[in-house]
Amino acid sequence: MQSRRRFLATSVAAPAVLAAKGSYPWAEVEKMIARGDVKGKLTRQDLPTPALLLDLDAFEFNVNKMVGYVKGKGRAIRPHGKTHKCPEIAKRLIQAGAVGACAAKLSEAEVFAQHGVRGILVTTAVVGPYKIERAVRLAKLAPDTIFCVDNIKNATDMNEAAKAAKVKLNIAIDLFVSGRTGITPGEPAVRLAEAMQGLSSLKFTTIQSYAGNASHVMGFEARNKFSREVMARAVETRQMINKKGIECTHLTGGSTGTYNIDTEIDGITELQPGSFLFMDVDYNRIGGKDGAFYGDFKNSLTVYTTVVSKPTDELAIVDGGLKAFSTDKPFPPRHKTEEGITYAFGGDEHGKLTFAKSAKALNVGDKAEFVIPHCDPSVNLYDKIFCLRGDNVEAIWRVAARGMSQ
Ligand SMILES: Cc1ncc(COP(=O)(O)O)c(C=O)c1O
Repeated sequence: MQSRRRFLATSVAAPAVLAAKGSYPWAEVEKMIARGDVKGKLTRQDLPTPALLLDLDAFEFNVNKMVGYVKGKGRAIRPHGKTHKCPEIAKRLIQAGAVGACAAKLSEAEVFAQHGVRGILVTTAVVGPYKIERAVRLAKLAPDTIFCVDNIKNATDMNEAAKAAKVKLNIAIDLFVSGRTGITPGEPAVRLAEAMQGLSSLKFTTIQSYAGNASHVMGFEARNKFSREVMARAVETRQMINKKGIECTHLTGGSTGTYNIDTEIDGITELQPGSFLFMDVDYNRIGGKDGAFYGDFKNSLTVYTTVVSKPTDELAIVDGGLKAFSTDKPFPPRHKTEEGITYAFGGDEHGKLTFAKSAKALNVGDKAEFVIPHCDPSVNLYDKIFCLRGDNVEAIWRVAARGMSQ
């Protein structure tokens, strides 16, 4: 790898316009970004905006804290890949001690598996002949993949396809605990487990109990109560199944908001949090054990923008709007460092910044960095994550499962 100075000395006809901080022609910066050959060469200032930035120090803190905490409580962790959709991140989590990665959908799981990620749990059911055929193919590539079912017809279809392909599918029963998918805990789930005993190409091992309605309950005590009540039904269901002589070795669930609650509940063997990697405005608002701001994990993910217009002294327009941030929450992005700068959506491509008296107003060409309202759908808007160590760009990770929602 040649140094910046060396590059300049050897480049014959460098164009007059050079990258902002470094000394590379912009055409070369483009190639570096395309190749991912950025370490030691580019800084944040060199990046085209809007860009998705990851603060690696904060990210690594989050990984180590969550994995260390959950494992320290004697539970496994299989972080949810729906948050990052990035095989590089899934692999780093496994290196850090995770047993695998969850994937929200089959196509997300396929991308992870193609990139060498193993220990995948597909957290939603795979329904219909085409997808079941793909699930069987995925199981051939990554035999330890686990698939969720919540209904006997679907389980029977999965069994038949698996039998025809001479593979065994690992199965989790998904419980209806959050008003979304799943089978009712208790007797209905036990009956499904019993019925699956007759399906010889399925290997039932796990109960999934994801209580998404618990994860954002405001205030630690209220969240603690809520999650304990919901998860108790899952623990009981697992016990009922085991009492029937059917071995159910794993109970997986939990989230960033309940990691320090669910790890206190006997019978939960595995956690599947996702947002802790990045955090967002939504999670910061739920309140932690020590106050109204939930700061157990650091805000590592931001969107980096440029002021492109200054229509009045009080108003600056940045180049990130509805296409740069998720818009599913009733609150806007938050400036990373300046409390006195307020963002409001200004259409597809733009955001409007206004300034409190205490804040330094920004001008055309200035940069502004924002914590995102909700991390999962925001990441899904980007092809790349620019990973920074301080101001230096250290790596570019592809959001390879972006758009994989099939
Ligand atoms: C099934 C499932 N498990 C785990 C998670 C992770 O939750 P969080 O990102 O709140 O940690 C999600 C997130 O939506 C999920 O859908």
